[in-house]
Amino acid sequence: MTVTIKTAEEQDKMRVAGRLAADVLDMIGAYVQAGVTTGQLDTICHDYIVEVQKAVPAPLNYRGFPKSICTSVNHVVCHGIPGERTLKSGDVVNIDVTVIKDGFHGDTSRMYFVGKPSVQAQRLSDVSFEGMWLGIAELAAGKRLGDVGAAIQKHVEKNRFSVVREYCGHGIGRVFHEDPQVLHYGSAGTGLELKAGMTLTVEPMVNAGKAAVKLLPDGWTVVTKDHSLSAQWEHTVLVTETGYEVLTLGSADR
Ligand code: MF3
Ligand code: CO
Ligand code: CO
Repeated sequence: MTVTIKTAEEQDKMRVAGRLAADVLDMIGAYVQAGVTTGQLDTICHDYIVEVQKAVPAPLNYRGFPKSICTSVNHVVCHGIPGERTLKSGDVVNIDVTVIKDGFHGDTSRMYFVGKPSVQAQRLSDVSFEGMWLGIAELAAGKRLGDVGAAIQKHVEKNRFSVVREYCGHGIGRVFHEDPQVLHYGSAGTGLELKAGMTLTVEPMVNAGKAAVKLLPDGWTVVTKDHSLSAQWEHTVLVTETGYEVLTLGSADR
C-alpha cells in the first residue's frame, strides 16, 4: 500500500480542486427540480467544469464511465449514470462531482430532494450526513482508519439503518482513487495510522433496509438488493497534526 503524503504545494492544489468540486454542487442545486433529466444535470455540470472552471470532469471516460458526474436516484446506491431519467417530486438524488485541476482531484457529493422528501428519505440523508461528519471528526495524525469507520457504523446502526460494505472512501490526489481504502465500518484503534498530509475522502453510503447491494448489467449502477432507499454524502479532507481540514466545503456546510 502506497499512501501519499502531500507537500505544502500539493495541499494548496488540493484546496483549489476541492473548492471547484464544491462550487459545482452549489451551482447545480437550483437545477434539481421536477422535470429535469439526470442527463441534463450532467450536461450543465460538464459545461460548467470545462468552460467556467477550466477543469476536467474526472469521471468522464474513467475506466469507461460515460458521463461527467454520477447521479444516483432513490434506491441507487452510487455510480448512477446520467441519462433519460426524468426527476419527479419525491425523488432523492445523490450528485457526485469530481474535478481535476492542475493535476489534482477534488471529490464531493450531496443529497438533493425534488420537492418534499418523505420522512424516511430525510432521516436517511441526515444520518448519512451526520455519519460522514462523525467520521471526519475522528481524523488527525496518530488516529487510525478504524476510528473513522467505527464512528460512522455506530451512528448508522443506532438509527437502524445499514452501512454499505462493498464501496468505500479512498486516498485522493494526483490519482482519483489512491490508497488507502477508507471503510465506513470497523473497529476503533485498528487499521492504518493517519499522518499529517494525507488526503482522503469520507463518503458513507447508508441504506434504509439491508446493507446488500447489486451491480446492474450496465456495469456501473449499484442498487440496494432489497430496493430500499440509499443516501450518501462525501467530502475530501486533509489530515493535519491536530485534526483535519475539509477541502470541499460548500453552501450545504455553512
Ligand atoms: N466519485 C466517485 C467516488 O466518490 C467515483 C465515481 S467513479 C465513476 O469515488 F467512474 F463512476 F465516475
Ligand atoms: Co470518492
Ligand atoms: Co465521489
